[in-house]
Amino acid sequence: MASPRGEFSSRFGFIMAAAGSAVGLGNIWGFPTQAASNGGAAFLLVYLVLAFTLAYPALMAELIIGRHAHANAASALRLISPNSGLRRIGTTTGVIGFIVASFILSFYAIVAGWMLAHCAAAVAELFRFDGLATWLTEFSLARNLGFMLVFMALTVGIISEGVQQGIERWSSRLMPMLLASLILLVVYVFTLDGAVDGLRVYLLPDFERALTPDLIVKALGAAFFSLSLGVGTMLIYGSYISDRENLPVVGGLVTLVDIFIAVLAGFLVLPAMYVALHNGVEIFTATGELISEDTLIFNVLPRLFDTMGLAGVLVGFVFFFLMSIAALTSSISMLEVPVAYTIEEHGVDRKRAVVVIGILIALASTVILLNFELLFGLVIAATTRYSQPLLGFMFCLYAGWVWRRDQLLQELRKGNAMVEHSLFWKIWPGYVRVVCPAIILLIFAQSLLG
Ligand code: PHE
Repeated sequence: MASPRGEFSSRFGFIMAAAGSAVGLGNIWGFPTQAASNGGAAFLLVYLVLAFTLAYPALMAELIIGRHAHANAASALRLISPNSGLRRIGTTTGVIGFIVASFILSFYAIVAGWMLAHCAAAVAELFRFDGLATWLTEFSLARNLGFMLVFMALTVGIISEGVQQGIERWSSRLMPMLLASLILLVVYVFTLDGAVDGLRVYLLPDFERALTPDLIVKALGAAFFSLSLGVGTMLIYGSYISDRENLPVVGGLVTLVDIFIAVLAGFLVLPAMYVALHNGVEIFTATGELISEDTLIFNVLPRLFDTMGLAGVLVGFVFFFLMSIAALTSSISMLEVPVAYTIEEHGVDRKRAVVVIGILIALASTVILLNFELLFGLVIAATTRYSQPLLGFMFCLYAGWVWRRDQLLQELRKGNAMVEHSLFWKIWPGYVRVVCPAIILLIFAQSLLG
């Protein structure tokens, strides 16, 4: 029976939703380009190790606390606190988390809007509306605002339907589509000249570049952003999991899907870059570094598609469609954080909460767009580089030090009576208590100093 506050109906539904949140622009565009310029397979290896040994334990902290409380982060942290001081800090952490999630969405919606616009441009090109296609791919306030609003409207529409009818239903539809279009593109790009060179860059390890402290810190940051940690997203999704579910297993599956898609995206983006090079598109900067991130997606790849004629129009469409889906299943998980908080803490009805918060976030996006040079990079750095690790640190402290160990064990036993004898229980509690907070603090210190 579904609880009145909503619950995922099945393990598949939860995994699709949580993997949908995790798999986003971070995986499909951030990870491959970082791997490309930072030692290829060696970066991949560092990322894999960090994802399993640090991001997975931190993800588990959020899932377990969330499932125990069946509530948003603020009231969940309050619930596991033994005294009023810790309750107050817990509430504050939850509130900051929902504010940060909202700001992440405010820049994410802008980038996702560009993806939608490029998707529409491919359609316009197919029907020979060349002027329109050009307008859609060029940076302008009207286009940026319009498509940010379209994307926010989609996000608001899904979240207003609630956990099962909105989040679960759409994630279960969109994630298989994402996987299918990703595989299709990988296979297609492999058949093109130049792809093998990209494959070589991706799969040959250059340990000298990957094992620098700076890079390890970057890879860890990427792993935390990629698994949607720190802002309460995974905590709130955890709060919608049924008590019968074995949490370490489902958390592990979500981590695996997230990593698998990032690695798979590498098999698309790296070969595509070298196909572009083969077709005469410049992919190196003046200093000989690989072009990365925004320039890659919005300049190099569209130019590659242009060199491919009609096939390029179709491939371009599928590519930007894939990016739009990845962004949408992540953005709904961001919006759910402030929405769940407002519903639960202030008794507001879901539809009203979604619309009001959606409008506020769209306003924030508008302010960013009107002051793009000043605010865009600033909001990204403030939310992802500083706030996410620091909030992740707080969740680990609450799981490791504040919450009573026997209650934690009891929570895990609900889904697995034998959990006490598992490897997870032998390692995780100490890990989340000492190793995770220590490393997160290190990232934070490093990014402040760096
Ligand atoms: N994990 C998402 C991505 O890789 C980003 C995200 C961050 C989603 C925080 C939710 C919360 O793009």
